[in-house]
Amino acid sequence: MNPLRNQFEKEGEKSVEEYTASIPFDRRLYKQDIVGSIAHAKMLAKQGIISDKEAELIMMGLASIREEIEQGVFELSAELEDIHMNIEARLIEKIGEAGQKLHTARSRNDQIALDMRLFAKEAISHTIEKLVGLQKALLDLAEANKDVVMPGYTHLQRAQPVLFAHHILAYFEMLQRDVGRFRDCLKRADVMPLGSGALAGVPYAIDREFLAQELGFARVSENSMDAVSDRDFIIEYQAAASLAMMHISRLAEEIILWSSVEFGFVRLAAAYTTGSSIMPQKRNPDVAELARGKTGRVYGNLLAILTTMKALPLTYNRDLQEDKEGFFDTVNTLISTLEVLTGMIATMQIRGDRTKEAAEGGYILATDLADYLVRKGVPFRQAHEIVGKLVQYAMEKGKGFKDLSLDEYQRFSPLFAQDVYSVTVESSLEARTARGGTAPRQVEQALKRARKIVQGEDA
Ligand code: ARG
Repeated sequence: MNPLRNQFEKEGEKSVEEYTASIPFDRRLYKQDIVGSIAHAKMLAKQGIISDKEAELIMMGLASIREEIEQGVFELSAELEDIHMNIEARLIEKIGEAGQKLHTARSRNDQIALDMRLFAKEAISHTIEKLVGLQKALLDLAEANKDVVMPGYTHLQRAQPVLFAHHILAYFEMLQRDVGRFRDCLKRADVMPLGSGALAGVPYAIDREFLAQELGFARVSENSMDAVSDRDFIIEYQAAASLAMMHISRLAEEIILWSSVEFGFVRLAAAYTTGSSIMPQKRNPDVAELARGKTGRVYGNLLAILTTMKALPLTYNRDLQEDKEGFFDTVNTLISTLEVLTGMIATMQIRGDRTKEAAEGGYILATDLADYLVRKGVPFRQAHEIVGKLVQYAMEKGKGFKDLSLDEYQRFSPLFAQDVYSVTVESSLEARTARGGTAPRQVEQALKRARKIVQGEDA
């Protein structure tokens, strides 16, 4: 019988029990719950609130419950509602009266806040590790294809030639901002709430700093009412995760495009694609598509928790139990997406012949021709207009810039000379030497800087 069940309530309201129970999902917090309880028992003994002997029994009991759970021999029951009650009931079963003292100077409200923060801190570190893993894979890919040129796009139209490495490093930058956001989020998760009690604090001489130290927290919470009802750290994780997934979805989308026959820029390793059940020629980029698709649920989870928290009065309300499933799902989704994407990037082949062909086709050097005239003294706006006409003429003739004779060039401006033929994809790249540009020398610097960052040296 659940000790929490309202005494006026009829027995056997199974549906209510199921509706309110969190054990189907908060079982995931068993480790955090036990670690938190062990620290709490230690502190209670240190402060003389329980005896050393009792603390000893509690700690041994909790350690063996952890083993039972890990060996799958502990049956968690919905009747006991949540992970806290399940573990406590089992402890009392095992060690008797000492077990009944564990919940002294504590409430499930500060207990669950602690468990979630412990979980979040671990999730954040793990996430950062995986983000850096993907950054490394991108960096390896960029370095291995240092000389590959491709068209850079605006409006998904070929715009100006760029180095493939430059394009890839753009994603490195996005992920670096994500790492920064998760590090920032860690600061706010790293606050120890135990000792807040149900909401008002506890009437015992506890040592909260000791608890923080035992549990590896940077500091303790300052206001008990805030501490039991604050879920900002979960929202922040989910917001940072949403941005990271947005970045990932853009990368995934480009890979999907690039692996199409139309682009043919990359070839994905077979393990990251599937065939079609009816069209034998197909090689579908399912992993990238799922990464793109899963972005939706991560956004959904963010919106769900924001909506749950909206207008909640202080302090603890059962609504807060809804903080878990979406959060766990987002952590799972982001981490697994980062993992598979890292593998996909690491095994992806770049078809430099195809990207070069695309970079050389069309009138991608139009801006460079305008810049050529600017160097000969033509104001940029006029140069832009001259080259516009030149492009139109060439298109009508079905010719590329290379195929036009000097005479044809000079019909548009007498300043065109023989050296116009030295305007090439290579010269276009070489010219973009301003910091952050695609000139090979700049990209070389950017690669070095990125390498330092993933090696943990500040750059
Ligand atoms: N299962 C609850 C949760 O996840 C634990 C805290 C319960 N506190 C309470 N006062 N009912 O939020």
